[in-house]
Amino acid sequence: MILRPLASMKLLLWTTVVLAGTPAVLQAQVSSSLSPQLNIAHRGASAYAPEHTFFAYDLAMRMDVDMLECDLLLSRDEVPVCIHDTSVDRTSDGSGAVSDFTLAELRELDFGGWFSEEFAGARIVPFEEQLDCYLRHNPQMRFHVETKDSAGGRAEEVLVELLQRKGLLDTGDVNDSSILMQSFDAGSLQRIKQLAPSLPTAFLFAAPTTPELALWVLSGSGPDYIDAFAPNSAAILLDPLIIQRFHANGHHVHTWTVNDRAQMDYLLDLGIDGIFTNNPDLLREAIDARGSGTTAATRNNPVELVSGCPGVAGRVVSQHGPGDVWAANADGPGVYLLAEAESVAQPEQAPVGRDVAGVRRGGGSLDGLLMIVLLGGLRLLTVLARLRARDDVG
Ligand code: G3P
Ligand code: CA
Repeated sequence: MILRPLASMKLLLWTTVVLAGTPAVLQAQVSSSLSPQLNIAHRGASAYAPEHTFFAYDLAMRMDVDMLECDLLLSRDEVPVCIHDTSVDRTSDGSGAVSDFTLAELRELDFGGWFSEEFAGARIVPFEEQLDCYLRHNPQMRFHVETKDSAGGRAEEVLVELLQRKGLLDTGDVNDSSILMQSFDAGSLQRIKQLAPSLPTAFLFAAPTTPELALWVLSGSGPDYIDAFAPNSAAILLDPLIIQRFHANGHHVHTWTVNDRAQMDYLLDLGIDGIFTNNPDLLREAIDARGSGTTAATRNNPVELVSGCPGVAGRVVSQHGPGDVWAANADGPGVYLLAEAESVAQPEQAPVGRDVAGVRRGGGSLDGLLMIVLLGGLRLLTVLARLRARDDVG
């Protein structure tokens, strides 16, 4: 990258300030966060379950997080879906750009098998279903939502329209809102603020690669449409005073992606306001150990999730082999009754009581029913044959 002379000077200045400030911070500076320190599930509890699936979000809720993250892209028919990459290749059994699939086509893909066989069949999660599901379980649940690709401004428009329809445009500030918007693209946050001034925003960045960003980082402040700043953890480790500079201007600081307990403790000591993690259980312990987070009552997460969400096929209620019937979860679209044999071929993968994702629209039930009818028919024929044989002997 070629920088203009002014840009080079600003970056040099930033580096000098950082290096000059570092020794002071090494003297174990402990400062306060602006709010209770937040546990943000990065793509769900993605260390333990396939990212951006109901399994990962369910687990995150069980681990008592404050916020669920959704990376957001539009399908071809402009439905916002939770997925990180612009292509489906890494996290599904399909191939191609997310924007080339309709939602119906995305729903056909398996977003769990790449992670492990146990989660095979996990479905794409449309953002609206994520909201519906977890707000149903817990009306206090909060969502950190990242616009990944503005799609020429359509992503922001579609998103704001959706949030308006659901009454989620004006629910509070960075501290307590149901929705917090985030992006690496400052222009996307600007559009969101123009469309919905009451939606709080967080700007994501890794290192100050532009003169403009270097100035924001140095001064601890940016344009009006940015409420919070979200540097990656490496940027904070390099420049720990960055948190204090943003705090001095009233900006909350969230960081990503921290999965190591020692690093969590260090960042919590520095007064970070929120941490994205793939391991929300580790972060829960770290925050609870110092009593610096929200209370369990505020978080309001259910102790047990008794019902699944759309996309979760059902719960295993019997385990006798071929012909098993899996009961559907109570409510919501995408929940199906299964009488499925193959999926329980390895019983340890589907113990009784587990929510399973093996959605087979109709086909699964039909196959199972067919099998039951055939087995029943065979049994009837056997009994009749035996009776006839007995009559013959008689
Ligand atoms: O949104 C915080 C963090 O997730 C940013 O990085 O690439 O994981 O979306 P990425
Ligand atoms: Ca993200």
